[in-house]
Amino acid sequence: MIVITEIKAEDTYPIRKAILREGMTLSHEMIGDHEAETLHLGLFESDELVCIGSFMKASKEIFKGSQFQLRGMASAKTSQGKGYGKLLLQEAELRLEQRGIDVVWCNARIVALDFYKKMGYQLTGNVFDVDQVGPHYMMFKELN
Ligand SMILES: CC(C)(COP(=O)(O)OP(=O)(O)OC[C@H]1O[C@@H](n2cnc3c(N)ncnc32)[C@H](O)[C@@H]1OP(=O)(O)O)[C@@H](O)C(=O)NCCC(=O)NCCS
Repeated sequence: MIVITEIKAEDTYPIRKAILREGMTLSHEMIGDHEAETLHLGLFESDELVCIGSFMKASKEIFKGSQFQLRGMASAKTSQGKGYGKLLLQEAELRLEQRGIDVVWCNARIVALDFYKKMGYQLTGNVFDVDQVGPHYMMFKELN
């Protein structure tokens, strides 16, 4: 059974470490992890947490309205490509829309660009480098 539910920041750390910080000295903890408005979502398959995403209040001047940044989006290695990232992101967008949020944006790794494009996110600006992680593009989606 698939269940998507709110989780604690600490619950995201094992998948963040394994998938997003493998071979890096960069911390798996993120600024905003423990802010009251931050939403950490987890997708459970048969009671096992296999996909995570964190949504934090953060604004960029180029976007209009209320904004949240998506960070730490990852599916466990053996759970990638099963549609879980899509389900989790759809659920997050619904929840943020209900909170009156206008825009979700993220700094997307090159390898994940097509995932975000499929989810309706658009590219903006030029490629930029994140220390240890590599090249990224900013992407965004306007919620209804
Ligand atoms: C990128 C990631 C979060 C996507 O989650 P996922 O659970 O594997 O994605 P899904 O199975 O829900 O895929 C949804 C759609 O996006 C596509 N997709 C997923 N990852 C993709 C990728 N890396 N490149 C191209 N397309 C991708 C799928 O084919 C699927 O397309 P479809 O709807 O036409 O079938 C996951 O693969 C991951 O954790 N990757 C490693 C960490 C990472 O790069 N995170 C993003 C940091 S910015």
